[in-house]
Amino acid sequence: MSTSPEPGSDHEAASRPGTRPRVVLGVSGGIAAYKACEVLRRFTESGHDVTVVPTAAALEFVGAPTWAALSGKPVSPDVWTDVHVVPHVRIGQGADLVVVVPATADIMAKAAHGLADDLLTNTLLTARCPVVFAPAMHTEMWEHPATAANVATLRARGSVVIEPAEGRLTGKDTGKGRLPDPDEIFELASQVLVRGAVAPDLAGRHVVVSAGGTREHLDPVRFLGNRSSGLQGYALARAAAARGASVTLVSANVSLPDPAGVKVTHVGTTAELHDAVVEAAAAADAVVMAAAPADFRPVAARKHKIKKTADGSAPTLELVQNPDILATISHDRARPGQVVVGFAAETGDESGTVLDLAAAKLARKGCDLMVVNDVSGGAVFGSPDNEAVVLGADGGRRAVPRGSKSALAHVVWDEVLARFGS
Ligand code: CTP
Repeated sequence: MSTSPEPGSDHEAASRPGTRPRVVLGVSGGIAAYKACEVLRRFTESGHDVTVVPTAAALEFVGAPTWAALSGKPVSPDVWTDVHVVPHVRIGQGADLVVVVPATADIMAKAAHGLADDLLTNTLLTARCPVVFAPAMHTEMWEHPATAANVATLRARGSVVIEPAEGRLTGKDTGKGRLPDPDEIFELASQVLVRGAVAPDLAGRHVVVSAGGTREHLDPVRFLGNRSSGLQGYALARAAAARGASVTLVSANVSLPDPAGVKVTHVGTTAELHDAVVEAAAAADAVVMAAAPADFRPVAARKHKIKKTADGSAPTLELVQNPDILATISHDRARPGQVVVGFAAETGDESGTVLDLAAAKLARKGCDLMVVNDVSGGAVFGSPDNEAVVLGADGGRRAVPRGSKSALAHVVWDEVLARFGS
């Protein structure tokens, strides 16, 4: 197999508008190499130009034909193929992003110490673009002081080293060291590609994000719920973690993988969401209520399934109002200087425009920021994109044009950061 890097002079040329972003997918030798195929697919399907650079050990797990077929380019682990195009320098120089999936303890040790004995390590030395490592290894290897020191060195130099997930490892053991979910790696790497190496400006901060929609059970099979997908809340949690915050995500009925490096508490009902958010808020610098809590619950859930009646009459549901979590934590701040953010999904009506209604809600609930979505026509729900206006209790007003939920998440954290200590 040979490697034929794309022609092109340097990183600047690769970043020119109109050209496809150039991603180098480094693959080192771990059993999780097969999951890198999914990351590769996500990048190619979203229009990126991907060059796969596996190590020789990676090819023991997943062969070169697989990488070549999925990327549409030949691959090689060594520096001796196609030497006339100087691949050991050109691939790194031309990249907009290098992402290593999985990153073994060995590849991070080599990168930390500047070793260059194959194509991937040469690429890591010549790259001037952001570099993301997605580690996967046994817990003992991740916790070893040598690995910890290498990870610290890489992070100090500006590389992003994603926290490994916890869970089942190769064999029967479980613990920290599992490769983060491929979707998570793709989302985070995409953020880094768009924003550059993300500054750890939320380091030392603890933030709480709620996401999803609560469900209030009517009987063992039915519930009152809503259309919230949790995508925006998960994007907020991921963005905060990427910016160095310690993040607690309180997730209500979301079918997305847990974001890497985030503490996730799963809840079902508004009462459970309330308890989990209030508990986590006690130690939080910021709380963002992106969840859509059900406002009402049945006075009592039926023990048995509600049956149809012979005369066709429908049952009457007696409902009671749920607590307003946002108003509670805003009016009862757990810590001085805590920043509280709400979301308002509004449709304008005869009493006012979307922004009038949202401004009134901001004042009523007593939060610091309100992220306002116009949901006339069901826009937003389940979509990867969002468009919003961020209103501040201090009179601030920032329009965020249609873009990814991740981009909106970063704007929200920028606004929160600006209010810390004010
Ligand atoms: N919210 C909350 N607790 C509730 C309902 C809503 O914390 N019981 C939060 C949401 O997470 C969101 C904000 O309040 O951040 C606004 O949600 P929205 O549903 O627009 O507010 P409601 O108070 O339910 O207003 P409306 O009467 O317009 O439905």
